[in-house]
Amino acid sequence: MLSDKSRPVIEATLPVVGAHIKEIAERFYRDLFTTHPELLDGTFNRGNQAQGTQSLALAGSVAAFATALVKTPGHLPENLLARVAHKHASLSIQPEHYKIVHDNLMSAIGEVLGDAVTPDVAAAWDEVYWLMAYTLIHVERGLYSARGVRPQTVRRKWEVEKKIQETDDVVTFVLKRSDDRIVKPSLPGQYITVEVRMPDGTRQPRQYSLSRADQGQQRQFTVKRVYGGGKPDGEVSTLLHTTVNVGDVLTISVPYGALVLDDYSGRPMVFASAGIGITPMAGMLSHLAAAGSHLQIMLLHADHNEESVALRGQILDDISTLPNASIYVWYEQGAASRFPVHGVFAGRMDISQVRLPDNASYHLCGPIPFMHAIRNDLLKRAVPPRDIQYEVFGPDLWQADYD
Ligand SMILES: Cc1cc2nc3c(=O)[nH]c(=O)nc-3n(C[C@H](O)[C@H](O)[C@H](O)COP(=O)(O)OP(=O)(O)OC[C@H]3O[C@@H](n4cnc5c(N)ncnc54)[C@H](O)[C@@H]3O)c2cc1C
Ligand code: HEM
Repeated sequence: MLSDKSRPVIEATLPVVGAHIKEIAERFYRDLFTTHPELLDGTFNRGNQAQGTQSLALAGSVAAFATALVKTPGHLPENLLARVAHKHASLSIQPEHYKIVHDNLMSAIGEVLGDAVTPDVAAAWDEVYWLMAYTLIHVERGLYSARGVRPQTVRRKWEVEKKIQETDDVVTFVLKRSDDRIVKPSLPGQYITVEVRMPDGTRQPRQYSLSRADQGQQRQFTVKRVYGGGKPDGEVSTLLHTTVNVGDVLTISVPYGALVLDDYSGRPMVFASAGIGITPMAGMLSHLAAAGSHLQIMLLHADHNEESVALRGQILDDISTLPNASIYVWYEQGAASRFPVHGVFAGRMDISQVRLPDNASYHLCGPIPFMHAIRNDLLKRAVPPRDIQYEVFGPDLWQADYD
């Protein structure tokens, strides 16, 4: 809880900090990587830095947290904290890192706001930072211990057992463990961080959703190759597609991710995905099929056409195994399907074309405009926001559920 001394100071300075938070975050990262260049080798994602998306996510989170401390002190933004902590844990972030981030963030605030940062203002924002940091450190400690790892042992080596060309630009990797340590099971919907060494010698981490339930000693993830279209091609996805083959060894984290399936509630589940957003849905369906679930499950998926749907064989097998599951698809290139789907429509996904089950929980994954449109349609149908979970394949710039 924020102290009585700091609360009015934060309230008074939130507008000015909020107005400059993007500039502060940009300067913070510039200073951070100048003083600690090692953080660009295996910790931070330089694609997100190049696009500026991570600094926006950091800025949004600081503003959301400070606002919550002032307006609803008894209620911190749990979804935000959980998402960040899981991402941090998958990247082996350690408590000692928080002092480094603190020093660079506070100095960036001082540089951007100048004389407005009196000693009282600095002390109040220091308090906000440490409240946030200690909350995250505490949650992260729990995440490491629940998996029986330390930050230093989050990542391990796995061998590529299969590389499957799913579509023109999507491949699936099946990995098998390459050491004797116990495999930590994943929860449905989780991801791993894959770390690869780039041609310039720098290690780069990226997250990939697990696209199938663990099968004993194996993990599976599915990667879409990112073409730049005028900007640089995606570096890790291109490297995975073009240079990683059967027999190669990859470094991956134990599974993390706060968006997990709650299959204990007994409620119907609706998965709505677009494009490569199918991957966590495939993972969750696979868990449900492996568990012999009798829940009512509906998969809604949008894509270019049938040929561009990744993992379609696996998904259709799982749907046919599950006694109460159905699949509806929307194809931009026309309503044609050779596969046994329950409904096929032309164009973009329109949920009014299907009968959604009552009292369902919803999982969304795909580009933000897609998820935004579906979430809005669901809210109009009086689906409570807490029943709509979503996964963003990058820093969360949408922040729709930062309650
Ligand atoms: C929780 C989570 C789960 C995910 N699951 C999956 C999954 O299952 N499957 C999957 O395929 N992906 C998934 N992703 C996305 C994945 O982590 C990567 O972001 C994706 O593969 C792109 O990485 P990349 O290294 O190829 O691209 P990057 O090199 O990181 O580039 C990303 C974008 O930035 C642009 N860019 C790069 N450099 C510059 C520059 N200098 N100037 C301007 N623009 C630039 C590129 O053109 C590209 O559009 C997931 C992400 C998250 C966070
Ligand atoms: C109170 C302090 C911190 C806050 C508020 C914070 C906030 C965030 C947020 C909001 C994200 C994006 C999460 C998402 O949307 O997926 C993130 C990711 C990340 N954070 Fe932190 N963080 C803090 C401390 C740290 C520390 C100490 C480190 C270690 C140096 C760190 C390293 C990272 C990394 C590497 C990522 C992923 C970046 C990427 O993929 O581009 N963070 N953090």
